[in-house]
Amino acid sequence: MSPHLLSVDSLSRDRVDHLMRVAARMEPIAQRRQVTRVLEGAVLGNLFFEASTRTRVSFHAAFCRLGGSVCDTTGFTFSSMAKGESLYDTSRVMSGYCDAIVMRHPDQGSVAEFAAATHVPVINGGDGPGEHPSQALLDFYTIDKEFNRLGKKLADAHVLLTGDLKYGRTVHSLIKLLSLYAPMRITLVAPPGLEMPSHLIDLVASRGHRVEERASLADDYADVDVVYTTRIQKERFTAEMSEGFSLSRDFTVDRAFMDKRCGRDTIVMHPLPRDSRPDANDLDVDLNGDPRLAIFRQTDNGIPVRMAIFATLLQVEALIEKDLRPV
Ligand code: CP
Repeated sequence: MSPHLLSVDSLSRDRVDHLMRVAARMEPIAQRRQVTRVLEGAVLGNLFFEASTRTRVSFHAAFCRLGGSVCDTTGFTFSSMAKGESLYDTSRVMSGYCDAIVMRHPDQGSVAEFAAATHVPVINGGDGPGEHPSQALLDFYTIDKEFNRLGKKLADAHVLLTGDLKYGRTVHSLIKLLSLYAPMRITLVAPPGLEMPSHLIDLVASRGHRVEERASLADDYADVDVVYTTRIQKERFTAEMSEGFSLSRDFTVDRAFMDKRCGRDTIVMHPLPRDSRPDANDLDVDLNGDPRLAIFRQTDNGIPVRMAIFATLLQVEALIEKDLRPV
């Protein structure tokens, strides 16, 4: 088993199932109904060289909930990388200070390069348009919980992935993770030029799933169980792509789309942040308050899932059980 969590490629179905069980066990601790100090004395290095709210704060909170302490670095400006320090040197230094490291970086492959130089577990908190494996795990945990609530099964589920499927690292990790499970139907809808990379479509199809690309949301999606939409990642566009780009409302998930095209128990997910600027046409706020909108249940699930990642990577699962006490 890899000591790191860099990509969904390193996860087997058994390991995902195990993480899901551990995450469920972490819920009372995440909600502070039970406490543990199992990571007392341990230090997490939380290195974020790209903007983040959820991933940075929830990894921080998850480590604290297990009794550990966190050192944060946010942005290149406050790191010695601003003075030209390499990933290799930063990694060697940080692994002398910390017991685990979470890192987000704008360049694909950079977190793996960093991990190669360290002897402590490294978690990829997002590497440019590459992957975001902990997000995929919390997304999968959310789908599983929502399906249990709705009495649905994962086998033969129909998942619609829409938005920026080219640069959206969360959908790259999620589609790989879903493909480990029973054959399902995956429909992809992206604006022109922002389609899912073909190597990921080929991988999922080779594992027996039905993958279909459609041009727009103006279709019948009544049998879709999960609508997973993502923000357009304009920060990753080339200058050529940026020029004159505007997202048509045809790709917006809103109440009209959900009421006309989807079922009454179709859930809506989004890794967040959603872009609330008027011309962004991201997931519409008119679904706020709609029980089908699972986005804040999804963010809440980030804590127990990230606690489970620490518990397994740092091999303290059994110790937690012994250390638990009520608040
Ligand atoms: N979903 C996610 O990665 O959110 P942040 O960018 O806020 O961490």
